[in-house]
Amino acid sequence: MIRITFHGHSCIQLETEGHSVIIDPFLNGNPAATAKPDEIKVHYVLLTHAHNDHFGDTDTISRNNEAPVLAIVELADYLQTQGLKTLDINMGGTVHLPFGKVKMVPAFHSSSLVTKEGQTLHMGSAAGLIIHFGDKVFYHAGDTCLFGDMKLIGDMYDIDVAFLPIGDHYTMGPDDAVIAAEWIQAKTIVPVHYNTFPLLNQNAEEFAARVEENGQHCLIMTPGETVGL
Ligand code: NI
Ligand code: MN
Repeated sequence: MIRITFHGHSCIQLETEGHSVIIDPFLNGNPAATAKPDEIKVHYVLLTHAHNDHFGDTDTISRNNEAPVLAIVELADYLQTQGLKTLDINMGGTVHLPFGKVKMVPAFHSSSLVTKEGQTLHMGSAAGLIIHFGDKVFYHAGDTCLFGDMKLIGDMYDIDVAFLPIGDHYTMGPDDAVIAAEWIQAKTIVPVHYNTFPLLNQNAEEFAARVEENGQHCLIMTPGETVGL
């Protein structure tokens, strides 16, 4: 069995016997998060992009666990200069890891981080991730707008669970995410990246009802909730 934990915003943890990974570990400063960075036990940190509501506590979690950080080349290079263990890949690339494999796919978004000195550093492209974890396939869309190649992703992979942003403003909103869900054809759609801040307030029940009307299964996860798959 695979345990899926939603830590709020876009942060997802996947666990199974002997394996644990966290995606976009934004906990400190995430009003929805119930876990503290020091409580997180993982073997890998996977990043969709460098924005702080995704990068979050990567530094602490990676160091505490001696966990490599998988990220696009520019971000991985930067993290290496900060003394973190990294796994750098780029669009279309797959890395095989003890729990399965991770492929980096496009997302339409930007990627930057702000240093302590207030300087904005651009960190390559934002990405989505296709994660084969145990015998299941997960798609974490990262931050993105709706884009046509989601159809391709849906055709190429038999996705069990897709994590799609619905918050609008910085990513696609519910209207576009309903279309994305249709194209991706995942067995279960989990809405993320909403209600963390007032700017991202959305009605997830309404979104879920629309996805279900299309004959798909939508699972609304409460921050801190774990479900088995
Ligand atoms: Ni972002
Ligand atoms: Mn974001």
